[in-house]
Amino acid sequence: MKGIRGKNVLVTGASSGIGQSIAIKLAEYGANVAINYYSSLGDAKDTEQQIIQQCRDSIQACGVNELLVQADVSNKNEVDRMFSSVLDSWGGLDILVNNAGIQIAAASHEMSMEQLDAVLSTNLRGAFICAQNALNHFLDADKSGIIINVSSVHQVIPKPQFIGYSMSKGGMQNLTRTLALEYAGRNIRVNAIAPGATVTPINDAWIHDEQKRAQVEQHIPMKRAGSSEEMAEVTAFLCSDYAAYMTGQTLFVDGGLTLYPDFREAWSSE
Ligand code: NAI
Repeated sequence: MKGIRGKNVLVTGASSGIGQSIAIKLAEYGANVAINYYSSLGDAKDTEQQIIQQCRDSIQACGVNELLVQADVSNKNEVDRMFSSVLDSWGGLDILVNNAGIQIAAASHEMSMEQLDAVLSTNLRGAFICAQNALNHFLDADKSGIIINVSSVHQVIPKPQFIGYSMSKGGMQNLTRTLALEYAGRNIRVNAIAPGATVTPINDAWIHDEQKRAQVEQHIPMKRAGSSEEMAEVTAFLCSDYAAYMTGQTLFVDGGLTLYPDFREAWSSE
């Protein structure tokens, strides 16, 4: 995809799900990919192996470098160390994809502060710490840069029983928009994707259970969950030169979930 070949990219939470697909897709388009993982080196190596396999299969993507970098994105010291390691290895970074995220279920009146803090500090604070490191690098090097945040349809749709998740993704909208506005004049673009229900480990509770999955999918206008590859393609578009004049935007990749599906048939004005 135009403008991705040869770029240095860091993808957080790239050892599974959407992050893994984004890492593989960007490598397929010729980017060097730093694969951030939290705890599972084995899963991160799986991403690496898939990239190597992909490059072997696709003549175009040959020559990409991949790098495994451990860090808990909510821990500033670990993120600082991760950026130093990427910059020492490659001499520069062009694209950051803030993908790492978790969710914890609990009724809002019962959620502990530890649970709330864990979600906010991973999903929102973590994204900010990584963005701050990337911005400092882009500004110090006086170069353009790209930040992509992986948000969620819950950026705009409330998610009862998941208050920390809703708060974090709601916050991500203004993280995206504020950074976009603040750094647009420095040629730094900040955009987001907002996936709908996607088949990844975060949804293990329903994706392997036929009945529960049908219950989820009946709410989606396109009648199916999305794949992490579909999220990766849209992310690649935002990273590419095709999106060169876009900043501050969130692209909803959700099979129509944010279209108020209950209004599919007219009922409110009869
Ligand atoms: P996943 O559970 O496969 O991926 C989450 C990744 O984040 C994992 O690789 C995990 O190790 C990593 N991670 C968690 N805490 C971390 C930390 N403190 N530091 C570094 N990495 C950490 O699930 P999925 O679906 O791929 O999630 C990726 C992103 O997509 C998340 O931000 C999630 O909120 C978002 N998303 C997912 C949707 C879905 O239906 N699967 C829908 C909307 C958004």
